Amino acid sequence: MYKMKYPNLFKPLKVGDVTLRNRIISAPQGFLHLDAESLPTQAAAAFYEEKARGGAAVVTIGEGYVDTVHGIDIPKGIHLDTDDCIGGLSLLADAVNKHGAVASMELQHAGMYASESYVNGNQIYAPVERMGEGTKAGARLHGVLIPEMPEEVILDTIEKFAQAALRCKQAGFGMVLVHGGHGWLLNQMMSPVINTRTDKWGGSLENRMRMPIAVCDRIREVCGRNFLIDFRFSAADVCNPGGYTPEDGIEMAKMIDGHVDFIHCSVGNHEVEESFVVVHPSMFLEDACNLKYAKEVKKHVKTPVVAVGAFSDPQMMEDTLAEGAVDAIAMARGLIADPDFPLKARQGKDEDINRCLRCYQCFSGLLDTRQFCCAINPVIGRELENKFDTTGYDRKKVLVAGGGIGGMQAALEAAKRRHEVILVEKTGRLGGALLCEEKVSFKKNLDLYLAAQARRVMEHPGIEVRLNTAATKELAEEITPDAIIAALGARPVIPSFLPGYDRPNVAGAEEVYYDLAKAGQKVVILGGGLVGCELGIHLALNGRRVTILEMASAPNFSGNMLHGEAVTAQIDIHGIRLMTETEAVEIKDDGVAASGPDGKVFVEADTVIYAVGQKSLENEVEELRFCAPEFYSIGDCSMPANIAKATKEGYYAARDIGRI
Ligand SMILES: Cc1cc2nc3c(=O)[nH]c(=O)nc-3n(C[C@H](O)[C@H](O)[C@H](O)COP(=O)(O)OP(=O)(O)OC[C@H]3O[C@@H](n4cnc5c(N)ncnc54)[C@H](O)[C@@H]3O)c2cc1C
Ligand SMILES: Cc1cc2nc3c(=O)[nH]c(=O)nc-3n(C[C@H](O)[C@H](O)[C@H](O)COP(=O)(O)O)c2cc1C
Ligand code: SF4
Repeated sequence: MYKMKYPNLFKPLKVGDVTLRNRIISAPQGFLHLDAESLPTQAAAAFYEEKARGGAAVVTIGEGYVDTVHGIDIPKGIHLDTDDCIGGLSLLADAVNKHGAVASMELQHAGMYASESYVNGNQIYAPVERMGEGTKAGARLHGVLIPEMPEEVILDTIEKFAQAALRCKQAGFGMVLVHGGHGWLLNQMMSPVINTRTDKWGGSLENRMRMPIAVCDRIREVCGRNFLIDFRFSAADVCNPGGYTPEDGIEMAKMIDGHVDFIHCSVGNHEVEESFVVVHPSMFLEDACNLKYAKEVKKHVKTPVVAVGAFSDPQMMEDTLAEGAVDAIAMARGLIADPDFPLKARQGKDEDINRCLRCYQCFSGLLDTRQFCCAINPVIGRELENKFDTTGYDRKKVLVAGGGIGGMQAALEAAKRRHEVILVEKTGRLGGALLCEEKVSFKKNLDLYLAAQARRVMEHPGIEVRLNTAATKELAEEITPDAIIAALGARPVIPSFLPGYDRPNVAGAEEVYYDLAKAGQKVVILGGGLVGCELGIHLALNGRRVTILEMASAPNFSGNMLHGEAVTAQIDIHGIRLMTETEAVEIKDDGVAASGPDGKVFVEADTVIYAVGQKSLENEVEELRFCAPEFYSIGDCSMPANIAKATKEGYYAARDIGRI
C-alpha cells in the first residue's frame, strides 16, 4: 500500500456535491493575456492549465470585473458584464476542468479605486462621498470628489455580481471567488473607517456587511447550491492606522458564515503602501505569516476556512491542516515558482519543489511590462509557446562553461533535450555568485533552490560535471563541442578610483557575506543598490550599526519596485542610515570622507564595504566565442542582472541548440 507523506494535504474536501481532490487552492493571479475585447486568449488558458496539470484542487482566475462601467481599475481585466464573455471563459474553464481541478473565477469591483472607469469618462462611486486619495500604482484618483454610491447602484451592483457568476457557471466554472478584501469595493463597504454611511448600507457592522452578504446570497439564488462561493476578505486591516482589527475580522467572518462555501482569509489593503508587502508577504517575513488570522477565524465559524500568504513548505502545510487550524491553503507565488508543487508533494518529492523566493520579480514585472515572469520558472507566462517542444532537434555535444544559476539551468534543459552535456565549473562547487548568501536568513528559499539545482545537475545521467575546471580555449579544443553556453558570470567592481580602496578595513560585499567576521561593529556600505541594501539588512540583523552611502537621490532596486518597498521598510525597521546624494571621496582608517547635499561629511566606520556593481567576464567570454559552431552567452557574463535573466537565458539557449 502506497504511504502518503502528506495525508491531510491530500485529503479530499467535500462541499455540497463537489469534491476537491486536495487542500491546495491556486490563489488568484491577475493575468493579462487578453484579446482586444478583454477576453482570455489561448495563452491565458495555458497559464492556468499548468496549475491544474500540476495538481491544485482549485484554480482561481484573477481579475474578472463584474462592472466594467463603474468598477474597473486597470486597462485590461476580464469583462464579465455581458454574455459576450462566455465563449472566452469557457476556454479557461475547460483548460482547468479537464485536468481534474475546479475552475474558479474571481469576481471583482474596484469601487472608489476604479480609476480606469473614471479615465473612460464613467461615474465611479465610494461608500460615502470622499476625495480620491489612493496611493498605489499611480493610477488612483487624487483630488477628485467621488460621490456616494446611491442605493439603486448598490442594488444594481449586487445583481451584476450574481449575473457575472451565472455567466461563469454557464461557461463551465464550478466556483467563484468573491473579492471582499484588499481595499476593493466590498472591502470598502466593510470598512468601519471608510463606510460611515447613515443608511442601512453603512455604519454598524451589520449594515457594513449587508452588501457582501447580499452579493453572496444572490449568487447562491441565481447559481444554485452546488456552485461554490469562496469569499475572500481581509481578516485584519494590517499596517493601516485606524484600519480594522483581527477582532473586527472575526466578527465579519461570523456574519458571512453559512452564506458561502469558503471563508478565505487574506489581510490588508493594496492602497496602504506598508500593507502591500504583508498582503503578498515579502522574503523578510516568516513563512505563513498571515495564518494566525485565519486560525482565529476558524475557531468562530462553521464554514471551511482557507488561509493564504507565504506558504511554501509542504510539511508545514500538512501540520497546519492536521491540527485543524484551517481547511485549505491557497498559494499564488508558490505555484508560479512551481506549478507542479502539488504533484511533487503528493509523491513526497519535497526536494524537487522549487520554493518561491518571495522576491517580487513576478509582481513587479507584471506591473511594469504587463507580462508574467518568475526568477526561477522560465516558462511562466510562456506556457503556450512552450507547448511547441523542440526535443526533436539534432543531438549535440554541449559545453556549459560555468555552474552558477544560469549554467545549471542551461545544463539541465540541454540534458532534458538529450544533448550530451559537459558542465565545467572553475570552483569546487555549483551555485555561482549566490552561494555567498547561503547563511542569510531571508534567503533561505534561495539556498534550498540552489542546492536542489546543484543536486539535479550532479545526479543527471546526461550531464558530466567537471568541478575545479576552468573553461579555456585549450579545454574547448580538447572537448570539441558542437555548442558552447558561456555562463561565466561577473566579478565585483572594485572602487580603485577611490583613494584608500586598498586599506585593510575595506572589503567587498561577497567577501563579507561569506565571512561576517570581516565586518566590524560600525559599517559603511558604499552603494545603495539591492546588493548593498540587502547586505545592510543582513548586517543589522547580525548586530552591526550600518550606514549606506548612495550617490543617486534614491536607492536603486534594479526595476524590482515591490521588493524595493520591502527593503525600504526593513531599512527603517532596523534603523539603517541611508545617505542618498552622497558620494564617497576617500576611505580612511576610521571611516569615509564624503560629499553630500550639505557639503563635506565624514562617516565614522571600522569597516567599509563596497557594493558598487558587477562587471561581466568579457575577456573570458571572448576566449570561448569561436571555439564551437554554436555559441551562446547567457546570464551575468552577457550583462550583469539577476536570477530571472540568467534562468531564462540559460533555459532558452539550451532549447535553441541543434536547430539547424
Ligand atoms: C552579493 C550578491 C547578491 C545577489 N543577490 C541577488 C538576488 O537576491 N536576486 C537576484 O535576482 N540576483 C541577485 N544577484 C545577482 C545574481 O547573483 C546574478 O545575476 C546571477 O548569479 C547570475 O547567474 P550566472 O549563472 O550568470 O552567473 P554566476 O552565478 O556568477 O555563475 C557563474 C559561474 O561561472 C563560474 N566561472 C567563471 N569563470 C569560469 C571559467 N572560466 N570556467 C568555468 N567556470 C567559470 C563561476 O565560478 C560561477 O560559479 C546577486 C549578486 C551578488 C553579487
Ligand atoms: C503576480 C500576482 C498577481 C496577483 N493578482 C491577484 C488578483 O488578481 N486578485 C487577487 O485577489 N489577488 C491577487 N494576488 C494575490 C494572491 O492571490 C495572494 O493573495 C498573495 O500573493 C499572497 O499569497 P502568496 O504568498 O502565496 O503569493 C496576486 C499575487 C501575485 C503574486
Ligand atoms: S518571481 Fe520570485 S516571488 Fe514571484 S513566484 Fe517567482 S520566485 Fe516567487
